[in-house]
Amino acid sequence: MDLISLYPTWYEPMVGSGWVVALIATFHVLASHTSVGAALLFAYLSHKAYREDREDLLDFIKKYGLFLLVFTYVAGSITGPGIWYSTTVASPNGIGALIHSFVWKWATEWVFFVIEVVGVYMIVYLVGRVDKKTHMKISVIFGMASLATMVIIVGILSFMMLPGKEAWFEEGGYLNGFYGTNTFIQLGMRMAFMFTMTAVVGGIVIAGIKDPAFKKEMARKLGWLGIISTLIGAAMFQWYLTSVPSQALLVMENRLPDYFVPSIMAVLAGTLAYFIITMLRPQVLVQGFAGAMTVIILVAGLWPEETARESMRKPYVAGQYVYSNQVIGRDVPGMDIQSQLPIIEKVGILKAHPFTPDHLKEVNDGNMIQSGEFIAMTYCSNCHSPSETGIRPLHRYFPDNITQERMEKYVKGVLTTGNIAYMPKMPMLDSEVKALSAYLLLNNQGGSEAVKVAIKEEVAARDRALAEKQASDKVAALSLPQEVK
Ligand code: HEC
Repeated sequence: MDLISLYPTWYEPMVGSGWVVALIATFHVLASHTSVGAALLFAYLSHKAYREDREDLLDFIKKYGLFLLVFTYVAGSITGPGIWYSTTVASPNGIGALIHSFVWKWATEWVFFVIEVVGVYMIVYLVGRVDKKTHMKISVIFGMASLATMVIIVGILSFMMLPGKEAWFEEGGYLNGFYGTNTFIQLGMRMAFMFTMTAVVGGIVIAGIKDPAFKKEMARKLGWLGIISTLIGAAMFQWYLTSVPSQALLVMENRLPDYFVPSIMAVLAGTLAYFIITMLRPQVLVQGFAGAMTVIILVAGLWPEETARESMRKPYVAGQYVYSNQVIGRDVPGMDIQSQLPIIEKVGILKAHPFTPDHLKEVNDGNMIQSGEFIAMTYCSNCHSPSETGIRPLHRYFPDNITQERMEKYVKGVLTTGNIAYMPKMPMLDSEVKALSAYLLLNNQGGSEAVKVAIKEEVAARDRALAEKQASDKVAALSLPQEVK
């Protein structure tokens, strides 16, 4: 049987699956980066509290730690599994690729994560109950465990962009997959920005400090931390761009939304201004101001960053071999993985897909729009919403008056051949080209409503034909002579 490993497509109406994942991931990045940065900050402050015998620093750690426990740990622990659930249904083969290569890395990460969670409770609840030296030791362990979770996850994240070393494709081996220049540059960049987030979110805690002198001291400390880390992070980002595949730069230059660069620039400038203001005039640092700044970072900084990271990987979702639409588009001898394109080229996507409903396995006049829709869902919907809204809606790309003939030419000439760098090669039989084009045309001209109506008509016509056939079969059977019956 010429079947390939595809699963039913998850498509969230009006939004698409990609945006759901991006939304969850954006919150998760804020929560996780803030807490890892804070863990390292606590180790430093706890050390200082021990060396200089200061209670107020421990009190600050306790307050910030409690804030983290209530907000970022809860948000992080909800959005973490949220990422697993959403990506598993949105990109089963993408997640499969990561698990096949890194299951033990992830298990190791969970060990450190458990230490981290226990650690944050100990840091908060043992202030004043153990001596300062013990508290410092716990803080250091907590900080290192937090950092370890980050290092491991960044290795896996950078594999999504590209495996650490080219040799991985031929030889496999998880060290080859894990470590590459991209891994370390990304690690540095994320560490820098994680301190930025720690400093911004820390402002909410500083705002609550009563003693003006101490408030000033902490505002200055976190202000410097924020300024330095933001500048280093921005520089590391430039460096990071030198380590990604040239394809990613192509997408970056031509295909990111117009708001991307201004938005990131504005956030960088705004963040620096915020730190300078709070350092010079700590009294303006009230919870509303710090809270608003956190939301700005989330919406204008992290959302574009997460969507860009996602766009730049195109056409792949993981390891430069699993396409975003879940088809495996390249041989990976090192992992015993074969490209699925030859099978699709041979039998067509409808027959190769194990979850194609029986009545759509072959295109005919009675299922044209339905099979076209099925192909669009399978092949395109991970990257393009086939509706009016959501991620890169398909109707935006075609002129209003496009004909069936022109559409077929585009689908066959461009999409089935893989002639556009940021889109996968999507082989189709001629009948499938026709069906997808008919669907796209309808979607383009009448939108999803027209598609719904057309599919209803198709189904009704098929039912009518079936009923007629049954009726005529019956008549035929009745009119047969007795002995034949
Ligand atoms: C891996 C993700 C991905 C998949 C799968 C995908 N596309 Fe695209 N497509 C893109 C990206 C990225 C762009 C650039 C979009 C932009 O900049 O707005 C694009 C652009 C396009 C364009 C504009 C053409 C151009 O010259 O830039 C068309 C038309 C299009 N896609 C149709 C489709 C159709 C139809 C399918 C399914 C058969 C599909 N795409 C599948 C990612 C994808």
